[in-house]
Amino acid sequence: MDRALLLLSLWALTGVVSPQASGSCPERLLGEETRKMCPRSCKSDSDCGSKRQCLCDGQCGLSCVAPGRTCPWPLPLSDNSEARLLSPTHSFSALLEVRCKPGFALPNGLDVTVRRCQGDRQWSGDDPICTATQPPESTAATTCPLPEEVINTFTIHGDASVGTSIRYSCLSGADIVGSSENFCQDNQTWQFPHPICKKVFCQPPKEVEQGYVVAVQKSEYEVDFDIHYLCKKNFLMDGPQKITCLSTGDWSALPPHCRARCVIPAERSRVVIGGVKRWPFDVTDAMVPHGENVTFFCKHPRKQCSFTAAQTCFDGKLPTPACYLEPTWLQFKLFPHRLVSEIDACEPGDVE
Ligand SMILES: *[C@@H]1O[C@H](CO)[C@@H](O)[C@H](O)[C@H]1NC(C)=O
Repeated sequence: MDRALLLLSLWALTGVVSPQASGSCPERLLGEETRKMCPRSCKSDSDCGSKRQCLCDGQCGLSCVAPGRTCPWPLPLSDNSEARLLSPTHSFSALLEVRCKPGFALPNGLDVTVRRCQGDRQWSGDDPICTATQPPESTAATTCPLPEEVINTFTIHGDASVGTSIRYSCLSGADIVGSSENFCQDNQTWQFPHPICKKVFCQPPKEVEQGYVVAVQKSEYEVDFDIHYLCKKNFLMDGPQKITCLSTGDWSALPPHCRARCVIPAERSRVVIGGVKRWPFDVTDAMVPHGENVTFFCKHPRKQCSFTAAQTCFDGKLPTPACYLEPTWLQFKLFPHRLVSEIDACEPGDVE
């Protein structure tokens, strides 16, 4: 009894028991083999070169292994488990115990497993994964986690508690890619991955005649992108100087217009521009900017007095008022003081 135990532990710790003595080594079972590679199989040391011995290598059965070979040690630290060598070394046949921390268990429900250092320098079995066991009487959270970036991307409808569903909608108003609903499972994980919001772009706005864009032109523009506009010389901007790509994929506004100046349609008559009565030829280029009001002088049909009629320059067009009559060159040269723009204004009662 004691002898058998000693023999067994010797086999377990060092694996140096000769094949003849260890009737316990299993046959190599290729069909059920979980290891990718087994060393060469053997019956005795003479089957293996000078550096190897014929030793029992777990499921691989008797195999040619170099007894000094070691398995990885120490193992990377794990949050959920602790590993401990049961053997003085981590070489072939050494045993390693992996124990889950309190509150954690292996998939088979146990909290400890023993691994053996194989001839392929790997610890036997799969890497043990300890997962949290259901807390018995849970005063802890009973909701599924919602990461910061999810909260910042979506409006969440629902409270994310176990056994309930939530619905997502993109804060940006964009369409959802993925499932717009999710279910918080009993183990406090989501049934589906969180969806994402489709990226929104604005299409290029229509071009501005007589103006230009102060930016690189693109085939599409990302949200919050600003386009600034300028108008060519002598054109006046009518509309926003800047438009912004909104999260809806629309621009904050229509692009501006660049409006042309107007030629003052009078030559031999004074007009009022910006509250000042002037000769058109004294005005730069005899033109007024878009939006400017020009007041013309018209003659009373029967009396020798004048009244005014205003027109507004709109994008290069400034019509004369219907009542305005352009003086002839002779009238202008010979009787400048009798020009309509120079005679007295009619009394309020004179104008019908
Ligand atoms: C021109 O006249 C209109 C109507 O009276 C007025 O609303 C506008 O402000 C005027 N424009 C300028 C540039 O004075």
